[in-house]
Amino acid sequence: MSQATSESSRTCYCGELSAEHVGKEVVLKGWMHSRRDHGGLIFVDLRDRAGMAQVVFDPDSLPDGQFEQAHRLRGEDVLAVVGQVRRRDEDKINPNIATGELELHVASFEVLSKADVVPFKIDEHQSVSEDHRLKYRYIDLRRPAMQSSIRTRARVNGAVRRYLDGLGFIEIETPILCKATPEGARDYLVPSRVQQGSFYALPQSPQLYKQILMMSGFDRYYQIARCFRDEDLRANRQPEFTQIDCELSFPTCEEIYEIFEGMMAAIYREAKGIELPTPFPRLTYSNSMARFGSDKPDLRFELEIRDVTEAFASGCEFKVFNTIIEKGGVARALCVPGGAEKYSNTQLKPGGELPAFAARYGAKGLAWFRAEADEGGVVSLTSNIAKFFSDECRAALAAALDAKPGDLVLIVCDKAATAATVLGQLRVYLGGELGLIDSDAFCPCWITDFPLFDWDEEGKRWHALHHPFTAPNPEDLDRLESDPGSVRSLAYDLSFNGEEVGGGSIRIHQPELQQRVFRLLGVSEDEAKDKFGFLLDALRFGAPPHGGIAFGVDRIMMQVMGTDSIRDVIAFPKTQSASCPMTEAPSGVETSQVRELGLRFTPSVEKKLADAADAEAGGGSVT
Ligand code: AMO
Repeated sequence: MSQATSESSRTCYCGELSAEHVGKEVVLKGWMHSRRDHGGLIFVDLRDRAGMAQVVFDPDSLPDGQFEQAHRLRGEDVLAVVGQVRRRDEDKINPNIATGELELHVASFEVLSKADVVPFKIDEHQSVSEDHRLKYRYIDLRRPAMQSSIRTRARVNGAVRRYLDGLGFIEIETPILCKATPEGARDYLVPSRVQQGSFYALPQSPQLYKQILMMSGFDRYYQIARCFRDEDLRANRQPEFTQIDCELSFPTCEEIYEIFEGMMAAIYREAKGIELPTPFPRLTYSNSMARFGSDKPDLRFELEIRDVTEAFASGCEFKVFNTIIEKGGVARALCVPGGAEKYSNTQLKPGGELPAFAARYGAKGLAWFRAEADEGGVVSLTSNIAKFFSDECRAALAAALDAKPGDLVLIVCDKAATAATVLGQLRVYLGGELGLIDSDAFCPCWITDFPLFDWDEEGKRWHALHHPFTAPNPEDLDRLESDPGSVRSLAYDLSFNGEEVGGGSIRIHQPELQQRVFRLLGVSEDEAKDKFGFLLDALRFGAPPHGGIAFGVDRIMMQVMGTDSIRDVIAFPKTQSASCPMTEAPSGVETSQVRELGLRFTPSVEKKLADAADAEAGGGSVT
């Protein structure tokens, strides 16, 4: 039998040991996951990316000194072992691992790398803070769940490339050092050394490049592209993230829906072996806001919002409601099955669980009724405020909601947008609390007919809801200047289980229309020339009608892997404060590097840096 050395070639992965290896000599290499000493033998679980195999150290079969060495093995030591594969005795079979019927009898081994005591054992990650896991990400990534997540992501990327290549899309890389483009978030800026005082921006998306590529005649483009946005981070946001970014010339919306439904289906086929039914359902933006209070509705459960303004038209002596409705407000409701019993008066009173939740999203109050059946079986609504509503009014409300005994009716009376947001958030919260969400379901949905503009009350100006290059719906074009708020765009989002996983639009391809939209957005001709002159120029030299879409790979992977944290699907993610605990980025740089860029810090930053340098006396770094 041969000696196991770093030179001997690995025969197979630990996790791939199979019946065909029985009686044969194999070489395995991997990490020592665990060690058990008993009966004069040492049992080690050796782990690699494919799984685990049990290897047995027997003093009678090992060269001199190796059994003692095996005693000293520590968790995460890296070993090469050679030996014969045997079937385990019937009573020693471990049904929990794929190789559980086999074991390798070690003839010799070599420790390829000794491990210090690890900061946490890989199967004890749950008791470890996420910061600590990110600091030692290389250990965290050894966990089977992380291995599976990152490898599934690679397979998804492969499936996407195969699918899009097959449809004639061309993969084209676009610059990372760009001119700032407005996508809504703050840019990450990179100072130029050669042209001091000038900055590149890291791309928030390759939006303008992909449009230019259509004007360059490539017809179908895609890129698995890195994007950078300096925005407030949330569970589904990273400062740098990845898009499947696509653009097509001469497309119709219908073509785009069909192609990218096919792409999502290819992803799910590859990653989960599931056939997603196509075509996906569609909802207009206004319908989605009215029924689900969100432009990314979670369709895994029903619980729709209903408009009940009419029910309060007469017989309502509740002044608050009357005043709001008279001023053009609405009354909207959720009728929550089983909610009457689940939520006590304490949870429903002002400041209680549900009203406090609603207040976080802007509700000034949350009215409630419990649906009960009287002796005759007729449903009636009871509440602390029932006396303000006539019997007819409550009956109309119960009928409008088709309330059943045991239902809890929650009402928000406010401006339409506020009522939608509050009830949309409550809907998702209650869906979770009441176990209404089928976590095995996959419910994609296109949201269409977005408004082109969004009114910014604070700044008293219009904003582009998607981005300023989105085409208005031609049917609404005559109202562009007279009633901008009513103009729909040719934009669409793909929502998946309540998450926005993609969004795009047909673009403006006429320079005059682009100028009109800029004007409405308050972008002067000079500013447009300065910021997007290259686009406006390109539009003048033969621009094909074009449109596209970008999908968030990280968000798709969250759905595929069934995780709530975007950090579970990225090898080296950033924390909530946009830093990397492993490399400690962002970090200080040499003072000379900063000066070379022609930059100076404000006096307060200079002082902070000087203090830090003093504390670290002798260091030449600015932090
Ligand atoms: P949009 O800004 O909607 O569109 O982005 C497209 C998709 O990218 C994902 N995404 C993010 N994922 C993680 N972290 C973030 N910070 C983040 N921001 C966005 C979302 C989103 O649906 N250029 C346009 C696309 C186009 O019009 O073709 C764009 O970038 O899943």
